[in-house]
Amino acid sequence: MSEVPRATPEMAVPQAESTAEAEFDELTRQRAKLIVSRYPHSRSALLPMLHLVQSVQGYVSQAGIQFCAEQLDLSTAEVSAVATFYTMYKRRPGGEHLVSVCTNTLCAAMGGDKIYQRLCERLGSDGRPLKHEETAGDPGATGSITLEHAECLAACDLAPVIQVNYEYYDKQSPRSATELVDALRRGEKPPPTRGAPLTDWRTVERELAGFFDDLPAAADGPNAAEETFAGNRLAEQNGWAAPAMPENVELPPVPEKK
Ligand code: FES
Repeated sequence: MSEVPRATPEMAVPQAESTAEAEFDELTRQRAKLIVSRYPHSRSALLPMLHLVQSVQGYVSQAGIQFCAEQLDLSTAEVSAVATFYTMYKRRPGGEHLVSVCTNTLCAAMGGDKIYQRLCERLGSDGRPLKHEETAGDPGATGSITLEHAECLAACDLAPVIQVNYEYYDKQSPRSATELVDALRRGEKPPPTRGAPLTDWRTVERELAGFFDDLPAAADGPNAAEETFAGNRLAEQNGWAAPAMPENVELPPVPEKK
């Protein structure tokens, strides 16, 4: 991993209510050691280590930051700098499911903004819409949902898209998205449009840390969407091919610094 970003005063986090010692059991410590053994330099293991922490706690607490620092011989400020830089690391306890609505340009134009607005209202309470990264229900309880708007989820050909625990639900509408979150709230796990079956956010976090305890034998849904191959098929039908890349490409000169 390249240089760990430096901490700034704004990245300060609340003090631990509990210590890393008390929060993380022997299995988690063994897993942490295994993660470290996968990298030539221990500090390179920070990203999967933070996922491991989230799989245990449902977020990255101050105790989680302390745990990572101890395992990787980093300062807590260095760990905080990384944990607060990436949006995939959460600083508050989240729901059983993380629902991410793409509101980037293409999805927004295709209805993503409307979907997000509808879900904020649907998941809010007492007339107050839910806000970005807030949770409906008790964090971690069955049917609880953390809602977020997200930047491009790399499925623009299937816009507007939603992810639940990073699994795709393609070509959504305000109505289908509402039905999806209603089902999640009831404790159901509607199958994603493609890819692996839906589990819960902590399970996915453990998988992102590199541990696949409950991986199903096979993902029974399709893994690719027809739309994604449309360009390929058109090229095949018409005999189009990209020009071969030359062996040596002369690069334009770099302007001199003044
Ligand atoms: S803009 Fe939504 S997936 Fe790319």
